[in-house]
Amino acid sequence: MVALDGPAGTGKSTVAKRLASALDARYLDTGSMYRAVALAVLRAGVDPADQVKVAEVADTAVLLVGTSPEKPGITLDGDDVSAEIRGPEVSLAVSPVSATRHVREVLVAQQRAIIADALDHVGGIVVEGRDIGTVVSPEAPLKVFLTASADARAARRTKQDSAAGRQSTVDAALADVQRRDRYDSTRAVSPMKAADDAVEVDNTDLDLAGTVTALLELVERRGLRVTG
Ligand code: DC
Repeated sequence: MVALDGPAGTGKSTVAKRLASALDARYLDTGSMYRAVALAVLRAGVDPADQVKVAEVADTAVLLVGTSPEKPGITLDGDDVSAEIRGPEVSLAVSPVSATRHVREVLVAQQRAIIADALDHVGGIVVEGRDIGTVVSPEAPLKVFLTASADARAARRTKQDSAAGRQSTVDAALADVQRRDRYDSTRAVSPMKAADDAVEVDNTDLDLAGTVTALLELVERRGLRVTG
């Protein structure tokens, strides 16, 4: 198992998917689960800052997360929400929702079950998030904390937004990256931080292919490649 943590805009999702494909392993995007609960909160007309009501929504929302690196996908109450959870409303609501203790308890339990199932059936899984190496799977044999400068991450986010037809400027993206970094790393419950034994990989000057190669080398060096 590979735990891949780090802030937004590092190319973490693409890197995690490519790494999982190269290793014939499964893939879990834990951020998509927090996003789906945030969408459920919005759909229920609940204030994302209302921790009691948000916890109730988390208890009733039914999430099904795909673990294929080629086509992960996620459903909320049977509805495919893979595209909708990437929109700006969800991106704004997800910070307070993911800072709600009960939401994290519910989702961490689901994540651990998905990881155990993958290890039983396939032998490997690449899990991306903010707290995988610190909380979800402190026993993971390889933990990577992927970082890049805030400027590089904002520039990448702007490119992604315009490719997806969303309006965005580098200034707005930088402000958003900094806002989320601050929120994710200062929240009381499971703040984002590198595990003590995580390998820090800064990819400010690396492209995606270079980042995947660097991680594959780490996997090989630890003798973690799964065979069947
Ligand atoms: O990786 P992402 O941008 O899709 O994550 C969405 C939000 O969920 C982000 O604000 C941080 C939060 N998150 C978290 O708190 N813990 C995780 N394991 C994954 C994501």
